[in-house]
Amino acid sequence: MIRIAPSLLAADFGNLARDIASADRGGADLMHCDVMDGSFVPAISYGHDITAAVGRNTDVPLDVHLMVVDPSTQVDLFAPIKPAVITFHLEAVDDPHPLIRKINNLGVRAGVSVKPGTPVEPLLELLPDLGLVLVMTVEPGAGGQSFMEGMVPKVSTVAAAIEAGGHDVMLQVDGGISAATIATAARAGADTFVAGTAVFRHPDGVSSAISELRHLASST
Ligand code: DX5
Ligand code: ZN
Repeated sequence: MIRIAPSLLAADFGNLARDIASADRGGADLMHCDVMDGSFVPAISYGHDITAAVGRNTDVPLDVHLMVVDPSTQVDLFAPIKPAVITFHLEAVDDPHPLIRKINNLGVRAGVSVKPGTPVEPLLELLPDLGLVLVMTVEPGAGGQSFMEGMVPKVSTVAAAIEAGGHDVMLQVDGGISAATIATAARAGADTFVAGTAVFRHPDGVSSAISELRHLASST
């Protein structure tokens, strides 16, 4: 199953409700919400209050991507919003197990992400407890960067481990996903595709963008 997750980071924040509605009507499977704290990454984006407002404007499940140094505190703040997924970065914690348990106990799918410089192998033993693995295909922190082809083997490694173990885990890629790159990621085994620029800045509109991405990911 292919899932397209528009990243609201590329939406027009002055017209957020309008852009959420476009993504919703366009068939988004998840609303990807990028939470940046200005420490884990240089930029500050938005937090749980804005994300709650996103949730009030759509029935599409929320996919929260925490790029923060203290994900455990943020999980407490996001819990009442009941996102479908909360993903934190492996680099932000000493031991991922307690936080994975905390997220699972909320009835939320736990996601763990790795930056381009971090190997995926430490994630493989976590698969039985995870709902999502996010392989970053750019350095986290900003939209509009170029897809890093060198991340494709990491996607294949995780895909093979999910397949071998029969795990119910979404395999997500995030960063530089576009009509030009999505098939490469899909062929490697990704099934959940975050796209900001390619969705919200598409010349033919959000709906066409989502359909095109879905088509290209499905026909690999
Ligand atoms: C980057 C964020 C992404 C970002 C993707 O740190 O995690 O979700 O919005 O933007 P594009 O699709 O433009 O590369
Ligand atoms: Zn993201």
